[in-house]
Amino acid sequence: MNVTVIGTGYVGLVSGVCYAEKGNHVICVDKDVSKIERLRSGEIPIYEPGLKELADSNTAAGRLSFTDDLTEAMVAADVVIIAVGTPPLPNGEADMRFVELVAREIGYALNGYKVVVVKSTVPVGTNERVRGIVAAISDYPFDIASVPEFLREGSAVKDTLNPDRIVIGSESTRAAEVLTRLHQPFTDQLIMTDIRSAEMIKYASNAFLATKISFINEIANICEKVGADVTEVAHGMGLDRRIGSSFLRAGIGYGGSCFPKDTKALIQIAGNVEYDFKLLKSVVEVNQHQRYGVIDKLKRALGSMHGRRVAIWGLAFKPETDDVREAPAIEIIESLLALGAIPRVTDPIAVENFRSLLNHPSIEWCDSALDAAKQCDAVCLLTEWEDYAKLDLKEVERVMASPILIDGRNAISKEQLEGTLFAYYPVGRPMMNIEDIAIHELI
Ligand code: UDX
Repeated sequence: MNVTVIGTGYVGLVSGVCYAEKGNHVICVDKDVSKIERLRSGEIPIYEPGLKELADSNTAAGRLSFTDDLTEAMVAADVVIIAVGTPPLPNGEADMRFVELVAREIGYALNGYKVVVVKSTVPVGTNERVRGIVAAISDYPFDIASVPEFLREGSAVKDTLNPDRIVIGSESTRAAEVLTRLHQPFTDQLIMTDIRSAEMIKYASNAFLATKISFINEIANICEKVGADVTEVAHGMGLDRRIGSSFLRAGIGYGGSCFPKDTKALIQIAGNVEYDFKLLKSVVEVNQHQRYGVIDKLKRALGSMHGRRVAIWGLAFKPETDDVREAPAIEIIESLLALGAIPRVTDPIAVENFRSLLNHPSIEWCDSALDAAKQCDAVCLLTEWEDYAKLDLKEVERVMASPILIDGRNAISKEQLEGTLFAYYPVGRPMMNIEDIAIHELI
């Protein structure tokens, strides 16, 4: 099948490469000429494990190409996929400007029957708006369908090639047949539904996952006060199949390009039809507050923060990505700066992205976790990179001014702490120091 994907961001690029991997001929389009040139020369503008290898092999096989010419890219297309960004407007609503612009361009480029798929996360009713825009410009037949994307950054290729389900929202049998043929090689779990329900499934899924995270974070906060261990609680809860064990990792809250944006957008969508989505508003509020737990613990451990050197391990919103959008690290570091502390920050791959977001003269940029810890009064682990869970903390302790470790992700093991004098502050678990570890050993 011939597939044209418009937009080479996370969703567009990963989907395009994966459609090619399943044997389709894919053209990826972007109006950013320099990005297209980079892609043509084999450079992948995002960090995503496995993506480059797959892009290279499919380009070499002649199944994948890149262009900035939308009209040319659409000539032979059976399916045209809109995967452009829907960034948040100041009021939380999704900005539909790019989707609408692309819809107009599709209208002008249409040259025969095609299925136009909206993959970008869009408010309910957008597909119908896209249909209206295209139909107002072109007399050629076409169908509209909603096929939302559920990939996660850092495992995007794996998620796309092995999805739990693929949701196809369409009111046309012809389009449903075409899209079934396109997606059957990925999974047997094809959910055929109407367009509005498909649009809603995407928001509802992200909002539910965000709710799970805020729920376990609140349980963690209570665990800290009553002396329970949230990792034990989550384990015990997760074995109940009705609850499920995923997305019950307590920490400093969710970040990234989807959950913060989509939760706020759904609140807005509900508000537009005069529905007050109270539960989701609380989820957002809890998430916002959760990151400051790190600051509270620092204050408890150090007293005054002024002039204190604090190492920050991890800037990305989660491991295996260089994405820092809505990363909890942003507000935590801003708070440290406001309190007069000196953040010494490091991340395996996200430092450059973070620097372009927050470049304060008091921030010290460091090459490694050990380097960041030098002469520090405390270390805060904000992203659970695997490397940090392998660090020799005895070595870290030697370079620090005082051994205090705030673990925002419960990523450090008891084994790592053994033989050190660290005062260790996890999330939702009893605080540990050398005496506690000694007691643990006796048990
Ligand atoms: C998410 C959805 O999972 C995906 O389906 C959708 O298409 C896009 O949004 P992504 O943002 O890439 O994907 O990452 P995800 O792995 O879902 O994590 C999101 C945030 O939640 C991260 O900041 C992560 O640290 C946090 N998180 C996740 C927790 O704090 N606890 C958990 O148990 C799981």
